[in-house]
Formats: sequence, C-alpha cells, structure tokens
Amino acid sequence: MSNTLPSEDGGKEKYDTSGFRKYNIPLEQVPKFSHDDPRVDEYISEMKPVLITGSNLIESAMKWDLEYISEHMPSSNLTVIISKDHNFKYVNEKKLPQGQMSNLKPIHTRWSSMTAREFLQKIKSWKEGDERLYLQQVLDSSVGPQLVQDFLHFNWEWAKNKQRIHGWGPLTSNLLLISMEGNVTPCHYDEQQNLFVGIRGFKRCILFPPEQFDCLYPPPVSDPHDRQSQVDFENPDLKRFPKFSEARGMEAIVGRGDILYIPLYWWHHIESKQNDDYTVSLNFWYKTKPTADIEYPLKSHQKVAILRNIEKMVAEALQNPDEVAHLMRALVLGRYTE
Ligand code: OGA
Ligand code: FE
Repeated sequence: MSNTLPSEDGGKEKYDTSGFRKYNIPLEQVPKFSHDDPRVDEYISEMKPVLITGSNLIESAMKWDLEYISEHMPSSNLTVIISKDHNFKYVNEKKLPQGQMSNLKPIHTRWSSMTAREFLQKIKSWKEGDERLYLQQVLDSSVGPQLVQDFLHFNWEWAKNKQRIHGWGPLTSNLLLISMEGNVTPCHYDEQQNLFVGIRGFKRCILFPPEQFDCLYPPPVSDPHDRQSQVDFENPDLKRFPKFSEARGMEAIVGRGDILYIPLYWWHHIESKQNDDYTVSLNFWYKTKPTADIEYPLKSHQKVAILRNIEKMVAEALQNPDEVAHLMRALVLGRYTE
C-alpha cells in the first residue's frame, strides 16, 4: 500500500515524507522490472503500465541538465508554460470558444518563450508566491548540433525493437520536460503510447486504467480541457463527481534512467518531487497500432475511442456543442436505462 493515504494528522499536511502531495486515493505500485526481464514485454503487450530500470535508452542524455542545455541549446524560443500555482493544466487553444469567453473559468496557465539560460535564472531566483514555470519543448532540428548528436546516440535499436514487438506506429515526437520542484501536471490521458524517461530528480506518476473513465469525469471533447479530469485531486468535489471515490490508482516513482511505459488512454497525474531543485524528463510518443484486426470483446480503451468519436460526430452534426447532452440524454434515458 502506498504512503499517500491520509495519515494520523488527519491529512492536514499537504506533503508526506516522500516529498509528494498527499491525496485521498488508494494506490498500488506499478510493477518494476529490469529492462531485460521478459515480463516487461508481457506488460506492454497487455497495455499495462510498467516501470523499466537499467536500460541505456537515453544514456547520452543523462548529462542534460540546465547548464548543459543552456550551453548547447541557444534557441530563444523554448516553450515555457507559466502558471499561477503548482498546477499546469493543459489548455487546447484551438478549442477555446471564439469571441465569447464568458462561461469559461479563468485560465491558470499561459505560454511564453525564452532561452534555457533565462529559464534557469528565473527558477533559481524563484520565491514563494511567484508564478511557476515549466519548460516543455518538443525536440526538433532547432535544438542545435550537440543535442542532435546526443539524440542520435540514443539506443534506437532498443526503441525500434519495442515498436516492432508491440506493433506500434511511428514515433511522433519527443517532449523534453524541465520542471520546477513541486509542479503538477493534472490528471489526463493521451491518445498515444508513451515511454517516459527520467533524467534528473524524481517524478511521481499516478495512473488509472481507461476502465475508470467514469470515475475521472473528463469534460466534453469540444472543451479546451478535453482529456483532462475535472476533479481537483487536492479538494475533490464528491457531490459533483461522486464516482471519484471509487477511483483506484497505481503509482510509479520515475528516477534517473527509469522508463515508465504509460499506455495510451491511461490516465496519468505527474508531479515533480518537492525540494529537488528541478526535474528533467524526456518522453517518446508513439502512434498506436493500426486497428486492422479488431478482436471482441472490445478493450476499454477502444470503448473510450468510440465515445470520443460519437461525441465528435454528434457535435459536428448539431453544429452546437450545447445541444449534445440533450440529444444524448434523449437517446439513453428511459430507453437504455431502467
Ligand atoms: C506525458 C505527460 C507531463 C509531465 O508525458 O504524457 O503528461 O509533467 N507529462 O511530465
Ligand atoms: Fe500526458
């Protein structure tokens, strides 16, 4: 059992001794295996999360701290997200309502761009009450020749082997994440397979399977917070989100050199440990297997994909997101319900 359950102080302390926030969610540990243990591929093929240790997938990136990155990545256009507090909830700007912003809650984060050096200086001089920063940069040709060299020296054979064994589609991107201590990426799911690698510091990832869709209450697909739980883990509103009390998570602490496999459609909440200065991680996002031969019964992640498609179709057909719920209710209530 995890040590993040309420403690004897009645849950008054925000953190426990592990340096991570306390939430009232039962957690079990994600299994952890060495990279050469055959169980790694068993878990991945069942699309279950697994923590992989001892691989040298990105050995050449283990030196990527902010000094090194500042020196070799001179770009002044690195993407930095700025937040009023420790939560970095993603906003899909394409889904922001045009013109009328009235019924949207105030947005907590904004985008900025700066050099790695500026980012380093800002987090060094940061004090309680200041806005928080989180660098999230996709690796592309602008990263400079030294990082390109390091990138070419990744163990691509290992990565390609995983891709082949599990029938994944192409690698779409690598996101470099440099986080201030204590930052949180709130609970969400992605539509890609993720190999999430630790380079510096510790991150805790809390995962939930796609089966728990209805415990985590994502907003409509048309919402700017699509794919993100509406439940505030620090202060869950159980009147509005009663089934959150049934959520059962899995926890993995991702340290230097560890790889966490986050299966597509698995919910994840990621937090950088308190009092480390900053964390560095790099993910590998892969398209999923093309669904040529569908097997029945469908898996729950496939059902989530169906829900998303139905929602998109109905919203598209009605040309008004406000009418979707009414139509869907008419479809179900008293007909498919008791
Ligand atoms: C991801 C992700 C957030 C973080 O890699 O999919 O959500 O804070 N990362 O590391
Ligand atoms: Fe994610």
